[in-house]
Amino acid sequence: MKVRKAVIPVAGLGTRFLPATKACPKELLPIVDVPAIQVVVEEVLHSGIEQVILITGRGKEAILDHFDYSYELEDTLTKRGKTDLVEAISAISRMVSVVSIRQKQPLGLGHAILVAQEVIGSEPFAVLLPDDLFEARIPVTRQLMETSAIYGTGVVALIEVPRELTHRYGIIDGEQMEEGLYRVLDLVEKPDGDRAPSTLALPGRYILPPAIFKHLAVTRPGVNGEIQLTDGLARLAREEGLLGRVVEGTRHDIGDKLGFLQANISFALRRPDLGPELRRYLERELSKE
Ligand code: G1P
Repeated sequence: MKVRKAVIPVAGLGTRFLPATKACPKELLPIVDVPAIQVVVEEVLHSGIEQVILITGRGKEAILDHFDYSYELEDTLTKRGKTDLVEAISAISRMVSVVSIRQKQPLGLGHAILVAQEVIGSEPFAVLLPDDLFEARIPVTRQLMETSAIYGTGVVALIEVPRELTHRYGIIDGEQMEEGLYRVLDLVEKPDGDRAPSTLALPGRYILPPAIFKHLAVTRPGVNGEIQLTDGLARLAREEGLLGRVVEGTRHDIGDKLGFLQANISFALRRPDLGPELRRYLERELSKE
């Protein structure tokens, strides 16, 4: 069945980026001049999905404004002849339909996804965690959709991480089926290196069947006292089957300050209007050391 909807949970508080996130949702912090959440929504669009469901919390209204029309701004820019800017700000609201649901209590990522059940109904859907940004030739969500279409099951994205970093991720126990493709036998949320069943980690991209909802509904709070998506996925893997695909592309963890800076530099270096000058600046700075 075709994947038509993508769920993006944006209810997190963003405390790691205070004071920047005191009044501004962390998802609107820019990657160069594009809010991070728009980079994620563009991945959705480029994967052929047109409906986005944002799971929001308090103080996230500005994200919805970002994807809405802004008549005043468009009118002012049009009168000033800035048609390129009008296009840049209106294109995204034309291309994608965004609905939002409020997660009334911060009970964890698994709970945030369960909240989406009422708009997803009984079809497979994508989940994208907006702290994870990818630069990839083929959008990572589309890479997963291709595998899901072939095997008719849920698929989680996988990346290799060093063993000393497994405590930051959901980690799979898997059985290799072919190069880069695993049958997921079990999953553990944020295990220490000595407990981790592998070094194959979940970088925040998933294609899930609607059966995930019944598993999340009975998943008890886990790590940090939160209902973890990873624990719901472990049930799904055992009862319905689940695949893991090692994805191609460069991942940035923008929930982390260093990762956020690296994403900005990396995206900027690839821009023809900024890349060459930025590269010269970095080379000059580094040669001073
Ligand atoms: C979440 C998930 C985790 C996943 C990670 C990817 O953790 O719970 O399984 O590996 O995102 O970024 P968080 O980073 O939100 O604590």
